[in-house]
Amino acid sequence: MDYFNYRGQQLFAEDVAIAKIVEEYGSPCYIYSKATLTRHWQEFDQAFGSYPHLICYAVKANSNIAILNLLAGLGSGFDIVSIGELERVITAKGDPKKIVFSGVGKRKDEIIAALKVGIRCFNIEVVGELDRINQLAGELGVVAPVSFRVNPNVDAKTHPYISTGLKENKFGLDTQLAIHEYLRAAEMPHIKIVGIDCHIGSQLTETGPFLDALEKVLIIVSILEKKGITLEHLDLGGGLGICYNDEQPPKPSTYINAILKRLGKSYSYEILLEPGRAIAGNAGILITQIEYLKTTADKNFAIVNAAMNDLVRPSLYNAWQEIIPVNQQTNATMFTWDIVGPICETGDFLGKNRPLKLTEGDLLAIRSSGAYGFTMSSNYNSRPRIAEIMVDAKTVHLIKKRESLQELMANEYLLPQ
Ligand code: LLP
Repeated sequence: MDYFNYRGQQLFAEDVAIAKIVEEYGSPCYIYSKATLTRHWQEFDQAFGSYPHLICYAVKANSNIAILNLLAGLGSGFDIVSIGELERVITAKGDPKKIVFSGVGKRKDEIIAALKVGIRCFNIEVVGELDRINQLAGELGVVAPVSFRVNPNVDAKTHPYISTGLKENKFGLDTQLAIHEYLRAAEMPHIKIVGIDCHIGSQLTETGPFLDALEKVLIIVSILEKKGITLEHLDLGGGLGICYNDEQPPKPSTYINAILKRLGKSYSYEILLEPGRAIAGNAGILITQIEYLKTTADKNFAIVNAAMNDLVRPSLYNAWQEIIPVNQQTNATMFTWDIVGPICETGDFLGKNRPLKLTEGDLLAIRSSGAYGFTMSSNYNSRPRIAEIMVDAKTVHLIKKRESLQELMANEYLLPQ
């Protein structure tokens, strides 16, 4: 559920008309709903009841510091994958003790920065990473908390680009290697083993693959226990899907209840989750305006002022996101349209074959754009990054200013003449 609804025939974000926001801040722009973000995070948190847990929001989904600050205020932890994301979480007043650091390629400077602020856990994915962390922790005179990301070889049944838990994927360690690494880690002076971790993919619409992965994790946990290695937490990653079209993903509570049911009373580990999309995805929309309507013998194109550089998911994954008018009141006739951007690529589309009643100048909303929208945007075709806005009931906050043309070239230099 979200808070982008029609009142009369006008689309609103919470209590503010989208058209009003565009009057002030222009288009294209991303608009987020604070109530939706809050509600989604709390759904995860509350489903655990009194069971020990930590929701570590996956920063890559949407890393605007206003959003991180909002979630930090709710008590959220964070899943980061770079020093940039670490810096953002700290700036947004996130608690370092609630940060887990994932990713296959952590550089030395990134590990040092995370050790200095004292993060909750490094999720190790590569053999050499353990030795690197041990050495750097030693040099700083600290002990590094670690977990190993295991690759459970489970099919997440999602798009191949966002499936991560199969043995042919670059992520995690297989069971044998993970156990070998745990035993090595147990002997290292600057390492403290705290958990185990897995993440099998994104936009999962069934609980089955999550439970299969949990089963594999529990097998490894029991092998480790027999070898005298006890863990404090199980991090089951992110990946819960959302409804873009007609998908029916389980609710966070259904998914969490299934996990807790499987764990029963025989386990007392703290459970960590790393949801990104399920918190931010349906909490944001992308607003764009129609520049031209172009009709050819074969196709009708609505050429809009947003493009693949602003929202790359349709081009990159052939992802379907709902496109709706901001104002439903129209005299136009219904036709089937491809909604395309001005970029010089045939792959520059936001939606194809959409039955809509369109007129030049109309505003359109591309729903479910709160996750992997702005964070995957680029300056391709020298298009400045667009504004981000957060609505809180009747109040509108600009949370990222539209980039100016000067800012576009700010870090570039002419060669000496
Ligand atoms: N944890 C780890 C280690 C991850 O790699 C990811 C996402 C998450 C958590 C959060 O997953 P979520 O709950 O958001 O599904 N750009 C793609 C999605 C890439 C996901 C990458 N990893 C898209 O737009 O669909």
